[in-house]
Amino acid sequence: MPCKEEDNVQETFPLRLYPWQKARGPSDLSQNRLSVTLAGLKLASPTMLASGILGYSAETFESIAEGGAGAIVTKSIGLKPRSGYVNPTVVQVSCGLVNAMGLPNPGMDEFAHEIRRAKTVLRVPLIASIYGYSEEEYAQLAKKAVMAGADAVELNVSCPHVKQTGSEIGQSSELLAATVKKVKTIVDKPVIVKLSPNVTSIADLAEVAAKAGADALTAINTVKAMVINAETGMPMLSNRVGGLSGPAVKPIALRCVYDIFEQVKIPVIGCGGITSWRDAVEFLLAGASAVQIGTAIAMKGPNVFSSITRGVSVYLRKNGFKDVNEIVGLSHHRQ
Ligand code: SIN
Repeated sequence: MPCKEEDNVQETFPLRLYPWQKARGPSDLSQNRLSVTLAGLKLASPTMLASGILGYSAETFESIAEGGAGAIVTKSIGLKPRSGYVNPTVVQVSCGLVNAMGLPNPGMDEFAHEIRRAKTVLRVPLIASIYGYSEEEYAQLAKKAVMAGADAVELNVSCPHVKQTGSEIGQSSELLAATVKKVKTIVDKPVIVKLSPNVTSIADLAEVAAKAGADALTAINTVKAMVINAETGMPMLSNRVGGLSGPAVKPIALRCVYDIFEQVKIPVIGCGGITSWRDAVEFLLAGASAVQIGTAIAMKGPNVFSSITRGVSVYLRKNGFKDVNEIVGLSHHRQ
C-alpha cells in the first residue's frame, strides 16, 4: 500500500473540534503562537532536528536552523571514535527506512570542537545526543558536552542494535534509573531521555526516567526491524537487524506519546514519521510539547521544518488557539 500523501493545508479548514476542545477567546495575532519552553529550553518553533539524521558540522546545523528548526539534536556521540557498520547501512522500505549505521561518530573529544563552533553560529538550542556503555560513561559524556556549550543532553538509551548500550540500557528499569540519576548529578543542564518503543510498556519506563530526574522525554527511537532480499535470500543490512523510521512508525510513536502523557508529568517530545503539519498537530494533541523530525528531511529536504511550522500556525489560527501550548494533550480531554 502506498504512503498517504500530505494533504493541502488550505483545503482542510476549519477542522471540526469537539466543543470542549475549542479555545476560549479570540486569538492574539501579535504574539509568536509557536514558541514553547521545554525543560527550560526556549524554542521559537516546536520542531526539532532528530538525532542521527545529518552529519556533525556546525554548518549543517546552521542550515537546518535556518530552515525553521526550533532546536538541533546532534548525532549520538560516544567517548571513543567509532566507524560504525560497513555498508549497506540503510534500506528503503514501504513508507520508511530501515537503518543500522552502528553509531558512527568521531568521539566526544573531537566533537566538542564542533559543539563550540556550532554555538558561535546557532541561535537555537543545541542538544548533544550521547551514548555510553555504563552510567559513568554517560555522565562523563554529558559533562564534556555541556562544558563545550551544549544547551542540553539527550541520552540515547534506545538504539535498537548496538550491543551493551542503547536499548540494552533503556529496556532495563534499573540501568535506566541509574544512568539518568548519574547524569543528573554531573550536569545542571536539561537531561532528555530518548526512549525505545521496543519494550512492553514505554509509559512505565518513562515513569522510571522521570522519577530518576529526567527533565523531558523523547518518544520514540526506531522500531527494531529487518529487510530480507528475496533474490539473494539474505538480510539486506550488513548488521542484519536495524531500526525502522518514517511514516510506517507514526501510529506506533503516536500511541507511545499518548500513553506516556497519561502516566508522566514531564514534557514529551514526539518523534517518529512526522512529515507534515498534520502529523505534527496529531503528536501535539496526543501530548507532545514539541516534535522531532528526521526521516522526512531525507524525503523532503530541510525546508520541511518551515512548511510544518507554517501549517501548524495556520491550524492554530483557523481554530482560534492563541498558542501551540493550548493543544498539547487535547486529545486526552473527556466531555
Ligand atoms: C545508528 O547509528 O545505527 C542509529 C542510532 C540509533 O538508532 O539510535
